[in-house]
Amino acid sequence: MSNTPEAQFKDRMLSLGLARVSEAAAIAAAKLIGRGDEKAADQAAVDAMRTQLNLLNIRGVVVIGEGERDEAPMLYIGEEVGNGGDDSPEVDIALDPLEGTTLTAKAMPNALAVISMGARNSMLHAPDVYMDKLAVGPGFDEGIVTLDMSPTQRVEALAAAKGCKPDAVTVCMLERPRHRDMLAELRATGASVQLITDGDVAGVIHCAESAKTGIDMYMGSGGAPEGVLAASALKCMGGQIFGRLMFRNDEERDRAVKAGIEDFDRIYSRDDMVRGDVIFAATGVTDGSIVKGARRVDGFLETETILMRSKTRSVRRLIYQIPLES
Ligand code: FBP
Repeated sequence: MSNTPEAQFKDRMLSLGLARVSEAAAIAAAKLIGRGDEKAADQAAVDAMRTQLNLLNIRGVVVIGEGERDEAPMLYIGEEVGNGGDDSPEVDIALDPLEGTTLTAKAMPNALAVISMGARNSMLHAPDVYMDKLAVGPGFDEGIVTLDMSPTQRVEALAAAKGCKPDAVTVCMLERPRHRDMLAELRATGASVQLITDGDVAGVIHCAESAKTGIDMYMGSGGAPEGVLAASALKCMGGQIFGRLMFRNDEERDRAVKAGIEDFDRIYSRDDMVRGDVIFAATGVTDGSIVKGARRVDGFLETETILMRSKTRSVRRLIYQIPLES
């Protein structure tokens, strides 16, 4: 028992190391903010994240990564990372070195470098397809809102639980043509809808800090890998997220089969996506409501990182400064 992946996963020891990994990715991407080059920004973040990950004393496998090995030269799904020996912990890693490539290229808010880590076989191997997502913050009964409810029913259920009218509920969603009907229905309830152009990991996290962000609920479709990262964050902060994979063609279904998915209609809860304890780190690339973006301060480059452990529900906010010339 003491040698199980769960027992080996000493998240307390690894957490500060994980913050270094997201810091490095954010710093690398920050050099390309506003340059209009999504690919270059992403590549810089990937390179930096990989270098730092390989300094950690782990035997890690990328479960949520940059894509399949043939389409992503680095940090691809299945890539082994870390410099651990036989006695180092076996871990699953979910990462997005640059969540919000377009946000970075256009210098828009809420681009993040994101990573989470848990014991081996504790995370859903989500294929790179869309996921229908629904999230609320902590403090509500489990299943207060569900993916099977209409948008109107979700707003009404949440309003009833909060003891307010629907017009006091704020929903966040990605601004996409595919969400047109959902948006119209939400607005007809009287709810306020905050549209984001990208970055639904941040969108979901906003629900867990609703006093600060004003956002009560997240809904709509986005990347399934981002769903697992968002689930990792809510595992640490509290709150619920549900996700159902969406398939547009047989090629996407094949991708799911390869990832070990058997039931295409399954609704995954937060704890189905992340089955054990996790550590989660996100560093701001551009300014956002969760963390500040990387910035120049008195000859230093400064980053802010949110670092959380689900086991203790601890939240650290780390400011890191490195001399600009280094
Ligand atoms: P990238 O940073 O990889 O471009 O992802 C940004 C993002 O907005 C995610 O946050 C979201 O899950 C996904 O893209 C939505 O996909 P699409 O742009 O196809 O609607």
